[in-house]
Amino acid sequence: MTESSRQFLAIRPRRMRRDDFSRRLMREHVLTTNDLIYPVFVLEGDNRIEPVASMPGVQRQSLDHLLRAAGECVALGIPALALFPVIEQQYKSLTADEAWNPDGLVPRTVRALKAAYPQLGIITDVALDPYTTHGQDGVIDDTGYVLNDETVAILVKQALCHAEAGADVVAPSDMMDGRIGAVRDALEEAGHIHTRILAYSAKYASAFYGPFRDAVGSSANLGKGNKYNYQMDPGNSDEALREVALDLEEGADMVMVKPGMPYLDIVRRVKQEFGVPTYAYHVSGEYAMLKAAVQNGWLDERAVVLEAMLGFKRAGADGILTYYAMDIARWLREG
Ligand code: PBG
Repeated sequence: MTESSRQFLAIRPRRMRRDDFSRRLMREHVLTTNDLIYPVFVLEGDNRIEPVASMPGVQRQSLDHLLRAAGECVALGIPALALFPVIEQQYKSLTADEAWNPDGLVPRTVRALKAAYPQLGIITDVALDPYTTHGQDGVIDDTGYVLNDETVAILVKQALCHAEAGADVVAPSDMMDGRIGAVRDALEEAGHIHTRILAYSAKYASAFYGPFRDAVGSSANLGKGNKYNYQMDPGNSDEALREVALDLEEGADMVMVKPGMPYLDIVRRVKQEFGVPTYAYHVSGEYAMLKAAVQNGWLDERAVVLEAMLGFKRAGADGILTYYAMDIARWLREG
């Protein structure tokens, strides 16, 4: 019997959509506060708050203010915070020595945050770009090429320094080959067997990082430079699976895809293929796009942000790093 010869319409998908109760019963994905990681920018000094021009609503702040924000995260039920330092020019160098200074901005901030809020997960960024005078994520040779193994050796010292300060999760975001294995070995050897590694496994060479580089002050240093010889080509997707497979083999506990919204296909493939804790970074440029449209009155902020987050969940993300984390947690609380 063909469809057109039927007398009745047996299948009406709209039946289930008719009422709120049946829409709720059939809903496959929900966003909760447990899905959120809040990225923050920390400055040296006291009582300093600087707005980031290209990220309205986002601030760079000194530790005293950051402690207040962390307290709010705990009160709202946000599980973890991702820490990014703004390193002053005088501490930058060709060899990024400040990256593993035990009295540097990051370890000091980690110690203070863990002392005040032991239950709040602290994730630190393992990469050299805030510490290099050229803004690259590693050390370079005479031609400007980012050296792999030499960089990994420094990343290991940086990760150890963060773990010693009490970081719960170290997150290498540099895309050097072999860095997860090297960091894992060093952590085990030093007895830091509980330190988790969140690997930025599929990190693309993206133009969506622009506002972040303004926020941490690395864009001026990077100048016309780019990161094409270590971050991934946006045209690729199989390569992402290979990178994730390597990082898992080397000892990653969690893997990340970055940026987020333009790369949900990658989140999907990674989650499907490996079934491991998978995260996505809703990056600075994605935040800036939404904020700009909202400020123009073109989009309804709450509706559009919650819808975007649901997109991450549907794609398979177990969690989302987003500058909207605090707003989202408040909206979810309001119901
Ligand atoms: C650098 C780093 C970047 C981001 C997180 N860590 C920028 C880059 O790779 O140049 C971007 C985050 C964002 O855009 O929100 N290691």
